[in-house]
Amino acid sequence: MRKKIVAANWKMNLDLNEGAELVNEIFKGLPILNENKEVVIAPPYLHLTQTAAQLAGMIDVHLGAQNCHSEASGAYTGEISASMLKSAEVEYVIIGHSERREYFKEDDAMVAKKVNQALSNNMKVIFCCGEPLSIRDANTQNAYVEKQIKEGLFHLSESQLGHIVIAYEPIWAIGTGRTASSAQAQDMHAHIRNVISIHYGTDAADEISILYGGSCKPSNAAELFACPDVDGGLIGGASLKANEFLGIINAMAEA
Ligand code: PGA
Repeated sequence: MRKKIVAANWKMNLDLNEGAELVNEIFKGLPILNENKEVVIAPPYLHLTQTAAQLAGMIDVHLGAQNCHSEASGAYTGEISASMLKSAEVEYVIIGHSERREYFKEDDAMVAKKVNQALSNNMKVIFCCGEPLSIRDANTQNAYVEKQIKEGLFHLSESQLGHIVIAYEPIWAIGTGRTASSAQAQDMHAHIRNVISIHYGTDAADEISILYGGSCKPSNAAELFACPDVDGGLIGGASLKANEFLGIINAMAEA
């Protein structure tokens, strides 16, 4: 049975004290989750060792990073490799976020290399895809997202695909307060699952978790998570406040 996941992407927010306090607040309100449900927290790199220490012994909450470099090591001033993340007890790496694609010019080929780095260091990947508004307005979003998935993931074997979680994040919904409707999310998630099924077969497609991201909040999470192909969420803004993030975790716990 595939997992339901709620993942926090703090982006470039919170100093070390604020991060520690937020994790403590989340712990205080965390519901009991059954074994097919989990929470991921992806703070900035600087927080990772501190957050790892806080998460030690928590079975339901896993540590994530927001990015990794596409090469294993070398002269890349200011960068962080996948093996460094692994040594900091990171379990998940978010790769291909639209902000990385847009502001840091990461193309599909670079995203694919980053996926390889994370997998070869025995971490799981939260692979992000999603279309800009112009593509949605032209109603060509299915082909756009399909290309991202093919170029970013289809070089993987079926067993490697078992370490991938997909996050569909329509760019027009990220940080804008404009959420995709549950029907729009469900349509795209079903399309993504179908794309996976055609290439990898129905078992792999049934097993892969597909998260929704983009202005997900406590007031819309339950409706989104009730969609048959929506297996949780990747949460930006609402993950920075314990009560809002807990509201979304509770929506998953009850889904
Ligand atoms: P948002 O961000 O929840 O603030 O829209 C989601 C994301 O970018 O992962």
